[in-house]
Amino acid sequence: MLGNFSYCNPTKLYFGDKSLQYLNTELPKYGKNVVLIYGGGSIKKNGIYDDVIRILKDNDKNVAEISGVMPNPTLPKLYEGIEIARNHQADFLLAVGGGSVCDYAKAVAVSVHCKQDPWEKYFLRFEEPDCEILPLGCVLTMVGTGSEMNAGSVITNPESKQKIGHVFADEEVMPRFSILNPKYTLTLPHYQMVAGIYDIFNHICEQYFSGEDDNTSDYISEGLMRSLLHSSRIANKNPQDYEARSNIMWTATWALNTLIAKGKSEDWMVHMLGQAVGAYTDATHGMTLAAVSLPYYRHILPYGLQKFKRFAVNVWDVNPAGKTDEQVAQEGLAAMEAWMQEIGLVMHITELGANADMLEGIADATFILDGGYKVLSRDEVIQILKESL
Ligand code: NZQ
Ligand code: ZN
Repeated sequence: MLGNFSYCNPTKLYFGDKSLQYLNTELPKYGKNVVLIYGGGSIKKNGIYDDVIRILKDNDKNVAEISGVMPNPTLPKLYEGIEIARNHQADFLLAVGGGSVCDYAKAVAVSVHCKQDPWEKYFLRFEEPDCEILPLGCVLTMVGTGSEMNAGSVITNPESKQKIGHVFADEEVMPRFSILNPKYTLTLPHYQMVAGIYDIFNHICEQYFSGEDDNTSDYISEGLMRSLLHSSRIANKNPQDYEARSNIMWTATWALNTLIAKGKSEDWMVHMLGQAVGAYTDATHGMTLAAVSLPYYRHILPYGLQKFKRFAVNVWDVNPAGKTDEQVAQEGLAAMEAWMQEIGLVMHITELGANADMLEGIADATFILDGGYKVLSRDEVIQILKESL
């Protein structure tokens, strides 16, 4: 544990199948003008919308709506939402949905009182807000991103083909509270469920595959990964298993709420590659990660051999006896590949709409970071993308 850090997470969580009632505890803390933000309509089909509206009315709130927030929320949609929130003189934002809705609400929260263009300020220049930030709460319906307890916001600019995430340093961008009811996730299509599961897994990997020091965070990560693998196999066979789905929901939050990054450098190259694929294809986030992961990890394995060996033994129960470090590490990745296939993840970017002609553009859209075991050259990015086709 070599790093210097501070730790604070101001998001209050309410977890469980009775957690929605705590909206009644939270709403009185904020002003009368609420903007309810949601996606393409799943919450109207499964009844969550009606329950939330009833509680907002009971609390005498004056409600405006931003609906139709799409997966991978776009910049034009952000501009539209900023106008709605400004016209409503919003005091509070309530996001009801998955990571897209929650990320989008954060982008609105930092933009309503911002005098500059939010895309340029927050997503191209990565600046922090210097204006009032609207408080925001979240009712989570899709599990994976960890957006319910972090300060990340990812926005896509379809015109420039850029998908950019900003993890704000300002804790005020984090939801003031999040309501996590695992039952709400039971209506997710299998495809979204497993994409979310892989997103969680990869968030842990992005923080795990870095550094050579003995770090408490890595032990927590291994526990989270083991729990996720166990629950994912149960949920894959029986998506209605509440116990498995509730464990997955809780793991998702801890996978990306800053805890397991403490004292570490972090990798995030799978996300950089996946986001660039997403900018070109608008594909489901978790699937973009799944499709590029194995070529990436096999490529960097020699540079982080001891960690990949530890991953194989501690996460995948590979028996190291009589094997070289390289063999053990490779067996770990083979076990990971088998699990990915078992739960039905997309293993090739061509299945997501990418093709060989896009590779140069995708490589241009890939930010190269230096926190992992190998700083990639552009040629290596192209090679990994080719192997992901
Ligand atoms: O729009 P509706 O109709 O609600 O349908 C959604 C959407 O089509 C559906 N859905 C959500 N809850 C449902 C449901 N369908 C049935 N029943 C329910 N209970 O699921 C679809 C996907 O939702 P979305 O919010 O897009 O998924 P996710 O939570 O994976 O969010 C993806 C976005 O988060 C970003 C991604 O890049 C992507 O833009 N990320 C945010 C991060 C963060 N804030 O830290 C980190 C992540 O790495 C990620 O980059
Ligand atoms: Zn992710």
